[in-house]
Amino acid sequence: MRVVKKPLILLMMVSICTSLSACAVNTKKYTSGIKEIKVGMTLYKQEDVFVSSITKNLEEIAKEKESEGKYKITINILDAKGNLNNQNNQVDKFIAQDYDIICVNLVDRTAASVIIDKAKVANKPVIFFNREPVEEDMERWNRLYYVGAQADLSGKMQADIIINAYKKDKRKVDKNGDGKIQYVMLEGEQGHQDASIRTEYCIKTIAENGIELEKLADDTANWEGAQATTKMTNWIKNFGDKIEVVFSNNDAMALGAVQALDNLNITENRPLVVGIDGLPDALSAVKNGSMVGTVINDSKAQASSIFNIAYELATNGNVNSIKVLEKRKYIRTSHARVTNDNIDLFLENK
Ligand code: BGC
Ligand code: CA
Repeated sequence: MRVVKKPLILLMMVSICTSLSACAVNTKKYTSGIKEIKVGMTLYKQEDVFVSSITKNLEEIAKEKESEGKYKITINILDAKGNLNNQNNQVDKFIAQDYDIICVNLVDRTAASVIIDKAKVANKPVIFFNREPVEEDMERWNRLYYVGAQADLSGKMQADIIINAYKKDKRKVDKNGDGKIQYVMLEGEQGHQDASIRTEYCIKTIAENGIELEKLADDTANWEGAQATTKMTNWIKNFGDKIEVVFSNNDAMALGAVQALDNLNITENRPLVVGIDGLPDALSAVKNGSMVGTVINDSKAQASSIFNIAYELATNGNVNSIKVLEKRKYIRTSHARVTNDNIDLFLENK
């Protein structure tokens, strides 16, 4: 066996353990004497662009708070890679290593009970985010929290973008002038609260405004751009320029639809594409006109809500000071509409 010299081991440890990364220090006292707050986070899938924008924001917020010098803040983010077993094991690990708070972006939002039971036994509060457990599970313990968005509002705002475009210039939306909007709908993952509710409210709002819709096709592309490109390519082949609007439950898929139009070199008579999230690439697409609009899903506000709950629990043991908690456990952040009329405002804050 090769003998590794001590200084080398030390060097290796230092390079593995950077302040906000996956270093599991099994002590609440940091060497300099300041207390450490340890937050363990498990993601359903790290490659999800929106979810990773929440974690990026969270790391920035934690770093800034840490710079106040009161606490060392460790945020350990693990990727469950879409696998429930991985996620359960990651929670076990956080509990075994005495993390203060566990943040969970559920692989399966209907299967939160195993995690809840483990956390309850260990008395570790859980902040679920982005993938909402069913209410019955949220009732299982009083140290469970949820941070997410207002799916109904985002669907409604997405509809408003098309309604306004229609009111402004009918022929730019109803291109064949038959009095109806022919559309396709790219849906997020089946069973995800943001997918079904966004679709429902988007369609309902347009109908309530007296505009007739004709669905050409709808299908799930599981929140993913590449899957959306494949679906949209087929739809273009089937329906050609009959498609007047592409509704998408998120921006990644909306951008996938734009990609399909680009791949087929469609330059004229393109359908209006509208998404949700406000990803930087979608904002650029709104600016250059390849998307008609998007709805901001506020990843910064969600990250800061997660952080505030975690910080209050770790430092005070309760969340009494957080006024925006609904039913003492829910925070749902708001949304904003983005179109060519106000895009510059959002590009400035990107
Ligand atoms: C976002 C999607 C994301 C999904 C992941 C939704 O709220 O809008 O972009 O893929 O959450 O759970
Ligand atoms: Ca039409």
